[in-house]
Amino acid sequence: MSTMNFLKYNSDNMFIGLSKNDLKKFQPKIKQAEAALKNLQASGQQGFFNLPFDIPGAKTIEKKAKEVQKKFSRLLVIGIGGSDLGARAVWQACPGKKMEVVFLSNTDPDTVAMVLNLSPEEWKKTAINVVSKSGSTVETMSNFMVARERLIRSIGQTAHRAHIYVTTEVDGKLALWATEQGYEVLAHPKNVGGRFSVLSLVGLFPVACGGVPITRLLAGAREVVYSEAANFAALQFLAYKKGQEIQVLMPYSDSLGNFPFWYRQLWAESLGKKGQGPTPIAARGTIDQHSQIQLYNDGPNNKTITFIEIEKFKNRIKIPKNIPGLDHVSDKDFSDLMHSELHGTAEALKKNKRMNGKISIPTLSPESLGALFQFFILAAAFSGEFYGINAYNQPGVEEGKRLARKELAGQKA
Ligand code: PA5
Repeated sequence: MSTMNFLKYNSDNMFIGLSKNDLKKFQPKIKQAEAALKNLQASGQQGFFNLPFDIPGAKTIEKKAKEVQKKFSRLLVIGIGGSDLGARAVWQACPGKKMEVVFLSNTDPDTVAMVLNLSPEEWKKTAINVVSKSGSTVETMSNFMVARERLIRSIGQTAHRAHIYVTTEVDGKLALWATEQGYEVLAHPKNVGGRFSVLSLVGLFPVACGGVPITRLLAGAREVVYSEAANFAALQFLAYKKGQEIQVLMPYSDSLGNFPFWYRQLWAESLGKKGQGPTPIAARGTIDQHSQIQLYNDGPNNKTITFIEIEKFKNRIKIPKNIPGLDHVSDKDFSDLMHSELHGTAEALKKNKRMNGKISIPTLSPESLGALFQFFILAAAFSGEFYGINAYNQPGVEEGKRLARKELAGQKA
């Protein structure tokens, strides 16, 4: 039975393909993994364990965010991967009302043109938060430099300095250059990797500027207990070993639509190593019932599906009576429809012997969102131990970047 208020995981339908004994036999491995993670935490090698407890840090971020709100009405956040997806997911799920927050990630010239097409008056009210741990990510730096150019052109060299907030490692090249330019540098924590950084200043500063109560996100994250995340990670790992190599995350919610994209990066970049690792899929209910469920129910039995259910939606809207041929929904609430569609889908998967599980959150609140983030972050850390890989690096990303650099430099790849 879960001891957490903001998140509960029901794994009953995972035992379609696994036995309780499989999980029992795996307990020593979980204990061993927990000890390894405690070492990582105690040695300070990985800082994400402690982020939910950094309340003074969050208060400082909130103070800085208030200063930004006083001066500007729009924040343009420029980053990619772990420097983008977390804040983007928070902003979609629990947007604040203090500032408009706009994200620029890809280097598609048509998107860049659209996002940066602002009048001088609009630039006057716009702050830029560029987020790059390394300070050398080509997409982020190209987007940032063009945004900076437009800002300077619109409001002048001197005035533009106060508009730029640079989140990066303090001893990196970008921090040095930013300081020379007179920009404010916000310290990216050295011992927190991009995809593990949503609850640090990386994810918290932009959304705090927008008015998200970040201390509530942390309160939810603090509630997550190791054993619950370990249990989820163990079941996914054991399922993987039995051939469930594809692991779908499917919230029944539009507000959580971006969350599975954050999960997808966390799972893929952390666990896809040394010829193994689950393939994460981002899905959304009910929409993907009309796109993916045929495959999940009737295609190869090589997936786990984890649903996220919001027990109580913010709005209640009645479905009108007398829809021809659909008497069963007459006078029901839209939220009843969401719940029943999820339950029906899970039941059908069970009948077809497809492993699935359900994470429930009571409402879509900053607390439950914080709990979701920390739950998956800890689960990824446990999974890294189970797969016997380093969950915190990404060597497979480098080769493609190197070859692209060569091509751009006019050399033959
Ligand atoms: O999780 C990661 O480490 C990556 O996805 C990075 O966040 C991403 O590559 C962006 O890197 P940076 O923050 O250095 O610009």
